Amino acid sequence: MSGMVVVGVQWGDEGKGKIVDMLAPDFDVVVRFQGGNNAGHTVRAGGVKYVLSLIPSGIVHPNKKCCIGNGVVLDPEEFCREMDTLIAQGVRITPDNLHISRKIHLIMPYHKTLDQARESSLGEDKIGTTGRGIGPCYEDKAARIGIRLGDLEDRDLLRDKIRAALKEKNVLLTQLYRQPPLGLEETLGKILPAAEQLCPFLADVPEIIRQCWQKGGQALFEGAQGTHLDIDHGTYPFVTSSNTVASGAATGSGIAPWRLTKILGISKAYSTRVGAGPFPTELMDENGQHLREQGAEFGTVTGRPRRCGWLDAVILRNSTRLNGLTEIAITKLDVLSGLPEVKICTAYNQRGEKILYPPEEHDLAAVEPVYVGMPGWAEPLSEARSLGELPGAARDYLKYIEELCGLPVKFVSVGPDREQTIIN
Ligand code: GDP
Ligand code: IMO
Ligand code: MG
Repeated sequence: MSGMVVVGVQWGDEGKGKIVDMLAPDFDVVVRFQGGNNAGHTVRAGGVKYVLSLIPSGIVHPNKKCCIGNGVVLDPEEFCREMDTLIAQGVRITPDNLHISRKIHLIMPYHKTLDQARESSLGEDKIGTTGRGIGPCYEDKAARIGIRLGDLEDRDLLRDKIRAALKEKNVLLTQLYRQPPLGLEETLGKILPAAEQLCPFLADVPEIIRQCWQKGGQALFEGAQGTHLDIDHGTYPFVTSSNTVASGAATGSGIAPWRLTKILGISKAYSTRVGAGPFPTELMDENGQHLREQGAEFGTVTGRPRRCGWLDAVILRNSTRLNGLTEIAITKLDVLSGLPEVKICTAYNQRGEKILYPPEEHDLAAVEPVYVGMPGWAEPLSEARSLGELPGAARDYLKYIEELCGLPVKFVSVGPDREQTIIN
Protein backbone atom coordinates (compact mmCIF):
# COMPACT_ATOMS: atom_id res chain seq x y z
CA MET A 1 0.00 0.00 0.00
CA SER A 2 2.84 2.29 -0.74
CA GLY A 3 4.38 4.16 -3.58
CA MET A 4 7.74 4.13 -5.31
CA VAL A 5 9.04 7.13 -7.20
CA VAL A 6 11.51 6.77 -10.05
CA VAL A 7 13.56 9.93 -10.59
CA GLY A 8 16.45 10.85 -12.82
CA VAL A 9 19.41 12.04 -10.74
CA GLN A 10 21.36 13.84 -13.47
CA TRP A 11 20.07 16.02 -16.35
CA GLY A 12 17.51 13.64 -17.85
CA ASP A 13 17.64 10.66 -20.22
CA GLU A 14 19.04 8.38 -17.53
CA GLY A 15 16.91 5.47 -18.74
CA LYS A 16 13.86 6.09 -16.52
CA GLY A 17 11.51 4.66 -19.17
CA LYS A 18 13.41 1.39 -19.35
CA ILE A 19 13.49 0.97 -15.57
CA VAL A 20 9.79 1.89 -15.13
CA ASP A 21 8.87 -0.65 -17.80
CA MET A 22 10.99 -3.27 -16.07
CA LEU A 23 9.39 -2.54 -12.66
CA ALA A 24 5.80 -2.13 -13.88
CA PRO A 25 4.74 -5.80 -13.43
CA ASP A 26 5.15 -5.35 -9.65
CA PHE A 27 2.77 -2.38 -9.53
CA ASP A 28 -0.94 -1.84 -10.11
CA VAL A 29 -0.88 1.74 -11.30
CA VAL A 30 1.84 3.82 -12.99
CA VAL A 31 1.61 7.62 -12.75
CA ARG A 32 3.33 10.52 -14.56
CA PHE A 33 3.34 13.64 -12.35
CA GLN A 34 5.25 16.46 -14.06
CA GLY A 35 6.76 17.69 -17.32
CA GLY A 36 5.27 17.27 -20.74
CA ASN A 37 6.37 16.16 -24.16
CA ASN A 38 9.82 17.57 -23.49
CA ALA A 39 10.32 14.07 -22.07
CA GLY A 40 11.20 11.15 -24.29
CA HIS A 41 11.22 7.78 -22.54
CA THR A 42 12.34 4.77 -24.53
CA VAL A 43 11.20 1.24 -23.82
CA ARG A 44 12.41 -1.81 -25.74
CA ALA A 45 10.58 -5.04 -25.28
CA GLY A 46 10.00 -8.08 -27.47
CA GLY A 47 12.06 -6.53 -30.24
CA VAL A 48 9.83 -3.44 -30.39
CA LYS A 49 10.91 0.11 -29.53
CA TYR A 50 8.28 2.34 -27.90
CA VAL A 51 8.86 6.07 -27.36
CA LEU A 52 6.74 7.65 -24.66
CA SER A 53 6.53 11.36 -24.00
CA LEU A 54 3.37 11.85 -21.94
CA ILE A 55 1.90 8.41 -21.46
CA PRO A 56 3.43 6.46 -18.55
CA SER A 57 5.84 3.72 -19.63
CA GLY A 58 3.65 1.18 -17.78
CA ILE A 59 1.13 1.36 -20.66
CA VAL A 60 3.20 -1.11 -22.65
CA HIS A 61 2.05 -3.81 -20.18
CA PRO A 62 -1.49 -4.97 -20.88
CA ASN A 63 -3.90 -4.57 -17.95
CA LYS A 64 -1.79 -1.99 -16.14
CA LYS A 65 -3.60 1.15 -15.04
CA CYS A 66 -1.82 4.36 -16.00
CA CYS A 67 -2.51 7.91 -14.84
CA ILE A 68 -1.35 11.34 -15.94
CA GLY A 69 -1.45 13.62 -12.92
CA ASN A 70 -2.27 17.31 -12.49
CA GLY A 71 1.43 18.34 -12.48
CA VAL A 72 1.85 17.44 -16.15
CA VAL A 73 1.39 19.89 -19.05
CA LEU A 74 -0.21 18.35 -22.13
CA ASP A 75 -0.14 19.24 -25.79
CA PRO A 76 -3.41 17.73 -27.10
CA GLU A 77 -2.23 17.26 -30.67
CA GLU A 78 1.02 15.62 -29.58
CA PHE A 79 -0.78 13.49 -27.04
CA CYS A 80 -3.11 12.09 -29.71
CA ARG A 81 -0.19 11.49 -32.05
CA GLU A 82 1.61 9.54 -29.32
CA MET A 83 -1.51 7.55 -28.47
CA ASP A 84 -2.19 6.71 -32.13
CA THR A 85 1.40 5.59 -32.68
CA LEU A 86 1.31 3.33 -29.63
CA ILE A 87 -2.05 1.86 -30.62
CA ALA A 88 -0.65 1.16 -34.11
CA GLN A 89 2.20 -0.69 -32.36
CA GLY A 90 -0.37 -2.92 -30.67
CA VAL A 91 -0.54 -1.17 -27.28
CA ARG A 92 -4.00 -1.18 -25.68
CA ILE A 93 -5.05 2.34 -24.66
CA THR A 94 -8.64 2.89 -23.59
CA PRO A 95 -10.42 5.01 -20.95
CA ASP A 96 -10.23 1.82 -18.95
CA ASN A 97 -6.47 1.75 -18.51
CA LEU A 98 -5.47 5.40 -19.02
CA HIS A 99 -6.77 8.20 -16.82
CA ILE A 100 -5.92 11.86 -17.24
CA SER A 101 -6.43 14.57 -14.64
CA ARG A 102 -8.87 17.38 -15.51
CA LYS A 103 -6.49 19.79 -13.74
CA ILE A 104 -3.71 19.35 -16.28
CA HIS A 105 -2.76 22.53 -18.12
CA LEU A 106 -2.93 22.49 -21.88
CA ILE A 107 0.02 23.48 -24.01
CA MET A 108 -1.56 25.86 -26.50
CA PRO A 109 -0.21 26.77 -29.97
CA TYR A 110 0.88 30.17 -28.61
CA HIS A 111 3.00 28.51 -25.89
CA LYS A 112 5.04 26.73 -28.53
CA THR A 113 5.44 29.88 -30.65
CA LEU A 114 6.48 31.89 -27.58
CA ASP A 115 8.97 29.23 -26.41
CA GLN A 116 10.67 29.16 -29.81
CA ALA A 117 10.56 32.93 -30.34
CA ARG A 118 12.05 33.60 -26.91
CA GLU A 119 14.84 31.11 -27.49
CA SER A 120 15.73 32.70 -30.86
CA SER A 121 15.72 36.16 -29.32
CA LEU A 122 18.13 35.02 -26.57
CA GLY A 123 20.78 34.07 -29.15
CA GLU A 124 23.93 32.87 -27.37
CA ASP A 125 22.20 32.98 -23.98
CA LYS A 126 19.44 30.55 -24.88
CA ILE A 127 18.49 27.72 -22.51
CA GLY A 128 18.33 25.18 -25.33
CA THR A 129 14.72 24.22 -24.55
CA THR A 130 12.94 21.51 -26.49
CA GLY A 131 10.75 24.23 -28.02
CA ARG A 132 7.62 22.33 -26.96
CA GLY A 133 6.02 25.26 -25.09
CA ILE A 134 6.69 23.76 -21.65
CA GLY A 135 7.97 26.94 -19.96
CA PRO A 136 5.24 29.30 -21.27
CA CYS A 137 2.53 26.79 -20.28
CA TYR A 138 3.78 26.53 -16.67
CA GLU A 139 4.10 30.35 -16.64
CA ASP A 140 0.39 30.66 -17.44
CA LYS A 141 -0.46 28.08 -14.79
CA ALA A 142 1.35 30.18 -12.17
CA ALA A 143 -0.17 33.38 -13.55
CA ARG A 144 -3.64 31.76 -13.24
CA ILE A 145 -4.48 32.33 -16.89
CA GLY A 146 -3.92 28.77 -18.09
CA ILE A 147 -6.39 26.55 -19.94
CA ARG A 148 -7.04 23.27 -18.15
CA LEU A 149 -8.11 19.96 -19.65
CA GLY A 150 -11.39 20.14 -17.72
CA ASP A 151 -12.19 23.34 -19.63
CA LEU A 152 -12.60 21.21 -22.76
CA GLU A 153 -15.88 19.93 -21.35
CA ASP A 154 -17.46 23.42 -21.53
CA ARG A 155 -16.92 24.87 -25.01
CA ASP A 156 -18.26 28.36 -24.15
CA LEU A 157 -15.94 28.66 -21.18
CA LEU A 158 -13.04 27.35 -23.28
CA ARG A 159 -13.75 29.94 -25.98
CA ASP A 160 -13.84 32.79 -23.41
CA LYS A 161 -10.62 31.69 -21.77
CA ILE A 162 -8.73 31.41 -25.05
CA ARG A 163 -10.08 34.77 -26.22
CA ALA A 164 -8.79 36.39 -23.00
CA ALA A 165 -5.41 34.65 -23.26
CA LEU A 166 -4.94 35.67 -26.90
CA LYS A 167 -5.32 39.34 -26.03
CA GLU A 168 -2.12 39.24 -24.03
CA LYS A 169 -0.28 36.66 -26.14
CA ASN A 170 -0.83 38.54 -29.38
CA VAL A 171 0.76 41.67 -27.92
CA LEU A 172 3.82 39.63 -26.99
CA LEU A 173 3.90 37.80 -30.31
CA THR A 174 3.51 40.85 -32.53
CA GLN A 175 5.20 43.61 -30.54
CA LEU A 176 8.07 41.79 -28.86
CA TYR A 177 8.79 38.83 -31.12
CA ARG A 178 7.58 40.20 -34.51
CA GLN A 179 5.42 37.12 -35.12
CA PRO A 180 1.99 37.08 -36.78
CA PRO A 181 -0.95 37.22 -34.32
CA LEU A 182 -3.06 34.13 -33.64
CA GLY A 183 -6.83 34.12 -34.18
CA LEU A 184 -9.44 32.58 -31.88
CA GLU A 185 -10.95 30.25 -34.51
CA GLU A 186 -7.52 29.18 -35.75
CA THR A 187 -6.43 28.34 -32.18
CA LEU A 188 -9.63 26.48 -31.39
CA GLY A 189 -9.36 24.60 -34.68
CA LYS A 190 -5.91 23.36 -33.66
CA ILE A 191 -6.97 21.94 -30.32
CA LEU A 192 -10.60 20.85 -30.70
CA PRO A 193 -10.15 17.72 -32.86
CA ALA A 194 -7.64 16.37 -30.37
CA ALA A 195 -9.84 17.47 -27.47
CA GLU A 196 -12.65 15.25 -28.75
CA GLN A 197 -10.30 12.28 -28.55
CA LEU A 198 -9.12 13.25 -25.05
CA CYS A 199 -12.38 13.84 -23.22
CA PRO A 200 -13.24 10.17 -22.53
CA PHE A 201 -9.95 9.77 -20.64
CA LEU A 202 -10.58 12.60 -18.15
CA ALA A 203 -10.75 11.33 -14.59
CA ASP A 204 -10.20 12.00 -10.91
CA VAL A 205 -6.62 10.76 -10.61
CA PRO A 206 -6.21 11.01 -6.79
CA GLU A 207 -9.35 8.89 -6.43
CA ILE A 208 -8.05 6.22 -8.84
CA ILE A 209 -4.80 5.98 -6.87
CA ARG A 210 -6.71 5.91 -3.56
CA GLN A 211 -8.85 3.04 -4.81
CA CYS A 212 -5.70 1.17 -5.85
CA TRP A 213 -4.23 1.58 -2.36
CA GLN A 214 -7.51 0.65 -0.71
CA LYS A 215 -7.38 -2.69 -2.51
CA GLY A 216 -3.84 -3.22 -1.22
CA GLY A 217 -2.23 -2.26 -4.55
CA GLN A 218 1.08 -0.55 -5.25
CA ALA A 219 1.68 2.67 -7.20
CA LEU A 220 4.73 3.59 -9.24
CA PHE A 221 5.43 7.26 -10.00
CA GLU A 222 7.45 7.93 -13.15
CA GLY A 223 9.54 11.09 -13.06
CA ALA A 224 10.52 12.99 -16.16
CA GLN A 225 13.67 15.05 -16.78
CA GLY A 226 16.24 14.88 -13.96
CA THR A 227 16.97 16.33 -10.53
CA HIS A 228 19.41 18.91 -11.90
CA LEU A 229 16.76 20.20 -14.32
CA ASP A 230 14.39 20.93 -11.38
CA ILE A 231 13.01 24.47 -11.48
CA ASP A 232 14.06 25.11 -7.86
CA HIS A 233 16.96 22.78 -7.20
CA GLY A 234 18.54 22.42 -10.65
CA THR A 235 21.20 24.46 -12.41
CA TYR A 236 18.93 27.50 -12.75
CA PRO A 237 18.25 29.10 -15.21
CA PHE A 238 19.32 26.11 -17.33
CA VAL A 239 16.45 23.98 -16.09
CA THR A 240 12.97 22.92 -17.07
CA SER A 241 9.87 24.56 -15.58
CA SER A 242 8.61 21.91 -13.17
CA ASN A 243 9.68 20.20 -9.94
CA THR A 244 11.39 17.06 -11.11
CA VAL A 245 12.44 15.91 -7.61
CA ALA A 246 10.63 13.03 -5.88
CA SER A 247 8.42 15.29 -3.75
CA GLY A 248 6.83 16.52 -7.00
CA ALA A 249 5.12 13.12 -7.20
CA ALA A 250 2.89 14.11 -4.26
CA THR A 251 1.82 17.55 -5.51
CA GLY A 252 1.81 16.46 -9.15
CA SER A 253 -0.61 13.60 -8.65
CA GLY A 254 -2.58 14.58 -5.57
CA ILE A 255 -1.39 12.04 -3.02
CA ALA A 256 0.12 12.28 0.47
CA PRO A 257 3.93 12.50 0.69
CA TRP A 258 4.10 9.73 3.33
CA ARG A 259 2.91 7.28 0.68
CA LEU A 260 6.22 7.63 -1.12
CA THR A 261 8.24 5.08 0.77
CA LYS A 262 10.76 4.06 -1.87
CA ILE A 263 12.66 6.57 -3.97
CA LEU A 264 14.69 5.00 -6.75
CA GLY A 265 17.25 7.29 -8.37
CA ILE A 266 18.30 6.45 -11.93
CA SER A 267 21.81 7.36 -12.97
CA LYS A 268 23.72 6.57 -16.10
CA ALA A 269 27.16 5.02 -15.52
CA TYR A 270 28.46 8.34 -16.91
CA SER A 271 26.83 11.77 -17.40
CA THR A 272 24.96 13.45 -20.24
CA ARG A 273 23.18 16.74 -20.71
CA VAL A 274 21.11 18.18 -23.59
CA GLY A 275 20.84 21.92 -24.04
CA ALA A 276 22.89 24.68 -22.41
CA GLY A 277 24.15 25.03 -18.83
CA PRO A 278 27.11 24.10 -16.64
CA PHE A 279 28.38 20.52 -16.85
CA PRO A 280 31.60 20.13 -14.80
CA THR A 281 32.60 16.65 -16.03
CA GLU A 282 31.87 17.28 -19.73
CA LEU A 283 34.39 15.62 -22.06
CA MET A 284 35.45 17.15 -25.35
CA ASP A 285 37.96 14.37 -26.16
CA GLU A 286 37.89 10.85 -27.55
CA ASN A 287 36.38 9.53 -24.29
CA GLY A 288 33.39 11.83 -24.79
CA GLN A 289 33.15 10.63 -28.37
CA HIS A 290 33.23 7.00 -27.18
CA LEU A 291 30.30 7.68 -24.81
CA ARG A 292 28.25 9.49 -27.48
CA GLU A 293 28.83 6.81 -30.12
CA GLN A 294 28.59 3.69 -27.96
CA GLY A 295 25.70 5.12 -25.95
CA ALA A 296 23.87 6.47 -29.04
CA GLU A 297 23.60 9.74 -27.15
CA PHE A 298 21.26 11.67 -29.41
CA GLY A 299 18.10 13.18 -27.95
CA THR A 300 14.87 11.14 -28.18
CA VAL A 301 12.79 14.32 -28.56
CA THR A 302 14.88 16.69 -30.66
CA GLY A 303 17.62 14.44 -32.06
CA ARG A 304 20.30 16.81 -30.71
CA PRO A 305 23.66 15.19 -29.82
CA ARG A 306 23.85 14.90 -26.03
CA ARG A 307 26.85 16.38 -24.24
CA CYS A 308 28.76 13.53 -22.53
CA GLY A 309 31.11 13.29 -19.56
CA TRP A 310 32.36 11.17 -16.65
CA LEU A 311 30.09 10.17 -13.80
CA ASP A 312 29.79 12.98 -11.25
CA ALA A 313 29.36 11.83 -7.63
CA VAL A 314 28.81 15.44 -6.48
CA ILE A 315 25.67 15.46 -8.59
CA LEU A 316 24.66 12.00 -7.28
CA ARG A 317 25.24 13.11 -3.68
CA ASN A 318 23.12 16.20 -4.24
CA SER A 319 20.35 14.06 -5.71
CA THR A 320 20.52 11.67 -2.76
CA ARG A 321 19.97 14.66 -0.49
CA LEU A 322 17.27 16.39 -2.53
CA ASN A 323 15.19 13.29 -3.26
CA GLY A 324 15.86 11.21 -0.15
CA LEU A 325 16.91 8.35 -2.42
CA THR A 326 16.56 4.91 -0.88
CA GLU A 327 18.26 3.01 -3.72
CA ILE A 328 19.79 3.57 -7.12
CA ALA A 329 19.85 1.99 -10.58
CA ILE A 330 22.90 2.35 -12.80
CA THR A 331 22.08 2.26 -16.50
CA LYS A 332 24.20 1.97 -19.63
CA LEU A 333 27.12 0.31 -17.85
CA ASP A 334 27.72 -1.57 -21.13
CA VAL A 335 28.65 1.73 -22.81
CA LEU A 336 31.88 1.97 -20.75
CA SER A 337 33.25 -1.33 -22.19
CA GLY A 338 36.40 -0.70 -24.20
CA LEU A 339 37.64 2.33 -22.27
CA PRO A 340 41.11 1.65 -20.81
CA GLU A 341 40.36 3.86 -17.79
CA VAL A 342 37.07 5.10 -16.31
CA LYS A 343 36.88 8.13 -14.06
CA ILE A 344 34.49 9.31 -11.37
CA CYS A 345 34.39 12.88 -10.14
CA THR A 346 34.33 12.57 -6.34
CA ALA A 347 34.46 16.27 -5.41
CA TYR A 348 34.92 19.73 -6.92
CA ASN A 349 37.84 22.05 -6.44
CA GLN A 350 36.43 25.54 -5.95
CA ARG A 351 39.15 28.18 -5.75
CA GLY A 352 41.47 25.73 -3.93
CA GLU A 353 38.79 24.35 -1.63
CA LYS A 354 37.47 20.79 -1.96
CA ILE A 355 33.66 20.72 -1.94
CA LEU A 356 31.37 17.67 -1.87
CA TYR A 357 28.08 19.36 -2.93
CA PRO A 358 27.42 21.70 -5.85
CA PRO A 359 28.07 25.39 -5.15
CA GLU A 360 25.63 28.19 -6.05
CA GLU A 361 24.53 27.91 -9.69
CA HIS A 362 26.65 30.83 -10.91
CA ASP A 363 29.81 29.19 -9.46
CA LEU A 364 29.20 25.75 -10.93
CA ALA A 365 30.69 26.56 -14.34
CA ALA A 366 34.02 27.48 -12.70
CA VAL A 367 34.65 24.42 -10.50
CA GLU A 368 37.28 21.83 -11.37
CA PRO A 369 36.30 18.18 -11.00
CA VAL A 370 38.50 16.04 -8.72
CA TYR A 371 38.72 12.62 -10.38
CA VAL A 372 39.50 9.13 -9.22
CA GLY A 373 40.61 6.93 -12.11
CA MET A 374 39.83 3.21 -12.17
CA PRO A 375 40.84 0.45 -14.57
CA GLY A 376 38.36 -0.06 -17.39
CA TRP A 377 37.28 -3.36 -18.95
CA ALA A 378 37.25 -4.60 -22.52
CA GLU A 379 34.48 -7.22 -22.29
CA PRO A 380 30.99 -6.44 -23.65
CA LEU A 381 28.40 -6.59 -20.85
CA SER A 382 25.14 -6.87 -22.77
CA GLU A 383 24.71 -10.62 -22.04
CA ALA A 384 25.36 -10.35 -18.29
CA ARG A 385 22.32 -11.14 -16.11
CA SER A 386 24.00 -11.28 -12.70
CA LEU A 387 26.71 -9.28 -10.94
CA GLY A 388 28.91 -12.37 -10.99
CA GLU A 389 28.91 -12.31 -14.79
CA LEU A 390 30.43 -8.82 -14.85
CA PRO A 391 34.20 -8.33 -15.10
CA GLY A 392 35.86 -7.51 -11.76
CA ALA A 393 36.65 -3.94 -12.87
CA ALA A 394 32.96 -3.27 -13.61
CA ARG A 395 31.97 -4.67 -10.21
CA ASP A 396 34.58 -2.45 -8.53
CA TYR A 397 33.15 0.54 -10.38
CA LEU A 398 29.65 -0.22 -9.05
CA LYS A 399 30.98 -0.79 -5.52
CA TYR A 400 32.70 2.58 -5.59
CA ILE A 401 29.46 4.27 -6.68
CA GLU A 402 27.65 2.64 -3.73
CA GLU A 403 30.38 3.89 -1.40
CA LEU A 404 30.25 7.43 -2.78
CA CYS A 405 26.42 7.68 -2.50
CA GLY A 406 25.98 5.55 0.60
CA LEU A 407 23.19 3.71 -1.22
CA PRO A 408 22.66 0.22 -2.61
CA VAL A 409 22.75 -0.22 -6.39
CA LYS A 410 19.59 -2.29 -6.82
CA PHE A 411 19.50 -2.51 -10.59
CA VAL A 412 22.21 -2.47 -13.24
CA SER A 413 21.22 -2.01 -16.86
CA VAL A 414 23.51 -3.44 -19.53
CA GLY A 415 21.45 -2.75 -22.67
CA PRO A 416 18.25 -1.07 -23.83
CA ASP A 417 16.12 -4.23 -23.69
CA ARG A 418 13.84 -5.09 -20.79
CA GLU A 419 15.79 -8.33 -20.22
CA GLN A 420 19.18 -6.64 -20.21
CA THR A 421 18.96 -5.88 -16.51
CA ILE A 422 20.72 -7.19 -13.44
CA ILE A 423 18.65 -7.20 -10.25
CA ASN A 424 20.85 -7.04 -7.17
P1 GDP B 1 14.69 8.51 -20.13
O1 GDP B 1 14.28 9.82 -20.69
O2 GDP B 1 15.33 8.64 -18.78
O3 GDP B 1 13.59 7.49 -20.13
O4 GDP B 1 15.84 7.96 -21.09
P2 GDP B 1 15.81 7.96 -22.72
O5 GDP B 1 14.92 6.88 -23.17
O6 GDP B 1 15.59 9.32 -23.25
O7 GDP B 1 17.32 7.66 -23.02
C1 GDP B 1 17.94 6.48 -22.64
C2 GDP B 1 18.41 5.76 -23.93
O8 GDP B 1 19.31 4.73 -23.57
C3 GDP B 1 17.28 5.07 -24.67
O9 GDP B 1 17.59 5.06 -26.04
C4 GDP B 1 17.31 3.65 -24.11
O10 GDP B 1 16.80 2.67 -25.03
C5 GDP B 1 18.77 3.45 -23.92
N1 GDP B 1 19.14 2.60 -22.79
C6 GDP B 1 18.53 2.47 -21.58
N2 GDP B 1 19.26 1.66 -20.79
C7 GDP B 1 20.33 1.27 -21.49
C8 GDP B 1 21.46 0.46 -21.21
O11 GDP B 1 21.64 -0.06 -20.11
N3 GDP B 1 22.40 0.32 -22.20
C9 GDP B 1 22.27 0.90 -23.41
N4 GDP B 1 23.23 0.71 -24.31
N5 GDP B 1 21.20 1.67 -23.73
C10 GDP B 1 20.26 1.86 -22.78
P1 IMO C 1 13.49 13.06 -20.13
O1 IMO C 1 12.23 12.86 -19.32
C1 IMO C 1 16.87 15.65 -21.17
C2 IMO C 1 16.11 19.97 -21.07
C3 IMO C 1 16.18 20.71 -22.40
C4 IMO C 1 16.67 22.07 -21.94
C5 IMO C 1 15.94 22.24 -20.61
C6 IMO C 1 14.68 23.08 -20.69
O2 IMO C 1 13.47 12.39 -21.45
O3 IMO C 1 14.68 12.74 -19.29
P2 IMO C 1 12.25 22.60 -21.69
O4 IMO C 1 11.82 22.26 -23.06
O5 IMO C 1 11.89 21.60 -20.65
O6 IMO C 1 11.85 24.00 -21.27
O7 IMO C 1 13.87 22.65 -21.78
O8 IMO C 1 15.62 20.95 -20.16
N1 IMO C 1 15.19 18.82 -21.05
C7 IMO C 1 15.59 17.54 -21.06
N2 IMO C 1 16.82 16.99 -21.20
N3 IMO C 1 15.80 14.86 -20.98
C8 IMO C 1 14.58 15.38 -20.80
O9 IMO C 1 13.49 14.63 -20.48
C9 IMO C 1 14.42 16.79 -20.89
N4 IMO C 1 13.36 17.62 -20.81
C10 IMO C 1 13.85 18.86 -20.89
O10 IMO C 1 17.10 20.07 -23.26
O11 IMO C 1 18.05 22.01 -21.66
MG1 MG D 1 14.60 11.00 -22.42
